[in-house]
Amino acid sequence: MVKTRLCEILGIKHPIFQAGMGPFSNNKLCIATANAGVLGLLSTSGLNSRESQKVIFDHFCTTGGADPEVDDDETILRKIFRQTYNGVKDKNGVFGVNVMVSMEMKDLANKIINTAIACRNEEPDLQNNFKVVFTSAGDPMGWGDKIKGAGFKWIHVVPSVKGAERCRKAGVDIIVASGHEGGFHTSWEPVHSMVLLPAVVEAMAPYNVPVVGAGGFCDGKSLVAALALGAVGVQMGTRFLATEESDFAQTWKEGIINAGDRDTLVARGFVGPARWIKTPRSQLHQENTLKLAPGLFLGKPDDPTSDSAKELMAFEREGMRAVYHGDKEKALIAGGECAQRVNSLLKVQDLVDGIVTEATDIIARMPKTYL
Ligand SMILES: Cc1cc2nc3c(=O)[nH]c(=O)nc-3n(C[C@H](O)[C@H](O)[C@H](O)COP(=O)(O)O)c2cc1C
Repeated sequence: MVKTRLCEILGIKHPIFQAGMGPFSNNKLCIATANAGVLGLLSTSGLNSRESQKVIFDHFCTTGGADPEVDDDETILRKIFRQTYNGVKDKNGVFGVNVMVSMEMKDLANKIINTAIACRNEEPDLQNNFKVVFTSAGDPMGWGDKIKGAGFKWIHVVPSVKGAERCRKAGVDIIVASGHEGGFHTSWEPVHSMVLLPAVVEAMAPYNVPVVGAGGFCDGKSLVAALALGAVGVQMGTRFLATEESDFAQTWKEGIINAGDRDTLVARGFVGPARWIKTPRSQLHQENTLKLAPGLFLGKPDDPTSDSAKELMAFEREGMRAVYHGDKEKALIAGGECAQRVNSLLKVQDLVDGIVTEATDIIARMPKTYL
């Protein structure tokens, strides 16, 4: 067993988060991970794709037990929260909801958080399992009173020490430091986990704010490394995406598992730079990004309303649709650098057991090996 302060704060067995991965569905995955003793996170930004990406929206709703044709946003959310609660309550699984709080998502973010609060108030039993609001992709300032006031634990993800300072001032309970290795959205000014994680840990140490590492973590070795760097746990996205219970399309899972040495690249995503599995299609997307939005490789944010950004986003949308239709030629597959270390499709429980066993063995062997 590997226990840290994170386990006590959230009531989870293992110091591991299954990352929220929007706008895609994590509805089934979240139940499986929560039941395996880690924090399961639901993604919610799929609600935004009702008009723009119907295939993603429909999948998001149906995996959550909702009807994409008739249910409004609140009803969809209520059904997903309830389905998750019903799926985890017998095993005391703990779950939360990932909410993107960027400016353009603010109205939706308020709707999601209000619905989460209402659900827990209407049925207080939910509070035993539905414990976390995990905000991302925006400024944490101003959200604390609502989230913490309702009794949720509040987690926010950042790519920098500056972002972590902002979290501390905003009153965030747990900070996730997300390195450039990570899958899909990455930051404009990249720093990898090996540097970012200890830097954030050191900056937060005087305030006793717990820090979790994200980006590149996929097994027991990398969990132990994060603990050595001062983290209280890790968040894994790419690794949990490629599991049997994951809601992601088979083409996507295979893309992660088949990725080899140096098999990811960065090109434009929905909200800036994004990491993709290297394929002829993503290489073309990268070349187009270099022509149309070179600032992406120079740390200079582009104008998302410009014609060139819109052209790149349209190409990306086509790539996302293709994944769901199993069109391997046009598919764009988001994934982290650690895809090269993810080589098998496992059941979530077996994966978590394997990670914990490996980490426990390494920690037990360390004094004999090094001292
Ligand atoms: C397909 C995919 C979608 C993601 N979508 C989101 C998202 O909507 N919100 C978010 O905060 N992070 C998102 N992430 C980042 C993850 O939450 C996590 O921080 C990251 O995957 C960790 O790095 P790893 O992929 O190396 O494990 C996404 C990651 C992937 C792979």
